[in-house]
Amino acid sequence: MSANPRQILVTSALPYANGPIHIGHMLEYVQTDIWARFQKLRGHECIYVCADDAHGTPIMLRAQAEGITPEQLIERMHGEHLRDFTDFGVAFDNYYSTHSEENRFFAEYIYNKLREGGHIRTRVISQAYDPKAEMFLPDRFIKGDCPNCGAGGQYGDNCENCGATYAPTDLKNPVSVVSGETPIEKDSEQYFFKLEDFEEMLKAWFAAGHVQSEIANKMSEWLDEGLQDWDISRNAPYWGFEIPDAPGKYFYVWLDAPIGYMASFKNWCDTTGHDFDSYWNRDSKTELYHFIGKDIARFHTMFWPAMLHGAGFRKPSAVYCHGFLTVDGQKMSKSRGTFIMARTYLEHLNPEYLRYYFAAKLGPGIDDIDLNLEDFAARVNSDLVGKLVNIASRCAGFINKRFDGKLAPRLSSDELSRQYLGAAESIAALYENREFGKAMRDIMALADKINQYIDEKQPWVTVKDEARLDEVQDVCSIGLNCFRQLVILLKPVLPRLAAQAEEFLNVDDLRWENLGDNLLDHEINRFVPLMTRIEPVFIERMIETSKEDLAAEQKMQQQSSASGIEAIAPEIGYEDFAKLDFRVARIVKASRVEKSDKLLQLTLDIGSETRKVFAGIANAYQPEDLEGRLTIMVANLAPRKMRFGVSEGMVLAAGNGDTELYILNPDSGATPGMRVS
Ligand code: MSP
Ligand code: ZN
Repeated sequence: MSANPRQILVTSALPYANGPIHIGHMLEYVQTDIWARFQKLRGHECIYVCADDAHGTPIMLRAQAEGITPEQLIERMHGEHLRDFTDFGVAFDNYYSTHSEENRFFAEYIYNKLREGGHIRTRVISQAYDPKAEMFLPDRFIKGDCPNCGAGGQYGDNCENCGATYAPTDLKNPVSVVSGETPIEKDSEQYFFKLEDFEEMLKAWFAAGHVQSEIANKMSEWLDEGLQDWDISRNAPYWGFEIPDAPGKYFYVWLDAPIGYMASFKNWCDTTGHDFDSYWNRDSKTELYHFIGKDIARFHTMFWPAMLHGAGFRKPSAVYCHGFLTVDGQKMSKSRGTFIMARTYLEHLNPEYLRYYFAAKLGPGIDDIDLNLEDFAARVNSDLVGKLVNIASRCAGFINKRFDGKLAPRLSSDELSRQYLGAAESIAALYENREFGKAMRDIMALADKINQYIDEKQPWVTVKDEARLDEVQDVCSIGLNCFRQLVILLKPVLPRLAAQAEEFLNVDDLRWENLGDNLLDHEINRFVPLMTRIEPVFIERMIETSKEDLAAEQKMQQQSSASGIEAIAPEIGYEDFAKLDFRVARIVKASRVEKSDKLLQLTLDIGSETRKVFAGIANAYQPEDLEGRLTIMVANLAPRKMRFGVSEGMVLAAGNGDTELYILNPDSGATPGMRVS
């Protein structure tokens, strides 16, 4: 343990459970993980918790599109996300879910405290409503033409073409992306959090340096504009927690999402026997840090501290924002194949390459970070393979072969080791202040020194002279001791390489406090290559795979935001139903329709007569497989003139309107012409 062990709770933002983790996300989780691992390595108590953000409309719609329940979707996503993070070396102490009993408890608790404190009020507001899907529409679920430049297909909040921001009601020709219907305006009562009650508190909090200066500036702009009430409720149907005493009203996902930090920590406390309150009491002496992307700053630096304050909890020690990841200087792009899923990356490349590259690029500010793929390969090959691993591979061979794996009993000089030790405190300060790029630069400068030393001593030459063998052992022992120190300094960034190095050096779990030790007269294990070079073809393959597997994901996204979701249609009476004449039909003939990929023409026998109908099932069935089969048709549908001829009815099929399609069959025994009711 270090002299003054600190008690630190660290979080990363909770990723949405409606899609996979990509390398943009990874920037954040790697940044946080390096910081948390650094604190642990220094002997502090540092608990790193996270969770899936499992509520909200997009999750509800995606589950519908996949034909599963939201619970099933979030359970699957939780597993996939956690696997991705674990394989990237991100070591959460707990990875939980906002859809948990702990989170429900704290969401209700905080809401009730805020209400008791007079910080909640209700108001009737008018919002866009989809009359067909019977749901209120969030801004992103309305599309239309930009009121400013006229560009089509723009979302309800801002235009991707000209950058204008506006209200969804300003859109021209608006449609609901859920049903395609034109939204209407509808009134309903909503619950609001009175942020203005916390204006003085927030001003003082920003002034006290809990957020980066860039963010504090942004926040004071918002403060100057005046603090608006925050709408924390949503109408059913909504996937989330119902508000106590307000049936049909749900907490907006952003209310319970940050509370998920507490819930995940509570869950960890309950399984490990730690004390929750000592971390969250208003007068807590522990430290609390949130790592987030700059896009979600307002939630974490205004709403969240205000909620905590209003409910009697402590506020964060700091909120650390980072910028966005670009690839080759541009926003990640699906068509260029640079929208890379974490899993796709893992299939092609070692995760520690990316951890190192991110570290080398990260600073304490909110600038965007560019992953330049060429620079990535060059940097990793030069620093990690060419400098770091090279030290071990140059020295280990001689020690293994010529000295039975034994390091020298004493070293002729400990000058370099002492230099390393001397640099350690300033490197620690760089880690502490999230100056990872500078830390990597300083560490690589140390690696250069030992490589130069080995170059000068040329053990591969002296080894040929029996009389100078002691010198070889000395130089290689110095080299490996320096290597060991470098491994400690890089351990927060390269945990897997460090574990392999510990195995090879035959030492226990290395800690920061071990930097001053030397391995003398110590037996090491056989050297195994710790890391290999990035070949350009690995990157090319990853880009190729990204192009392919994103096609599938894109389709899913489209379905969950458009055609695929079918809300249950409005209720009808029995009289309406009785108007439909369904009949058992035998498909006597099925043939392709020239110039149409989708349609088959079917000749149907319904006992009393035959009908010719067109059915959009050519992607799902071969015509010859259908002939002779029974199905169900609507027999009293008005004939419809189509481009290829007249259709005299419709056959019934189940499906998702796209990739899957199944025509209906009656049970055996039914015969053509029977009425279906
Ligand atoms: N669910 C919310 C966070 C709730 S926290 C109480 C959310 N989820 S997210 O999945 O969209 O993003 C998770 C984190 O990843 C955010 O901090 C976000 O800024 C970050 N990133 C998402 N894409 C990113 C990049 N392309 N680059 C860097 N960070 C990115 O927001
Ligand atoms: Zn526009």
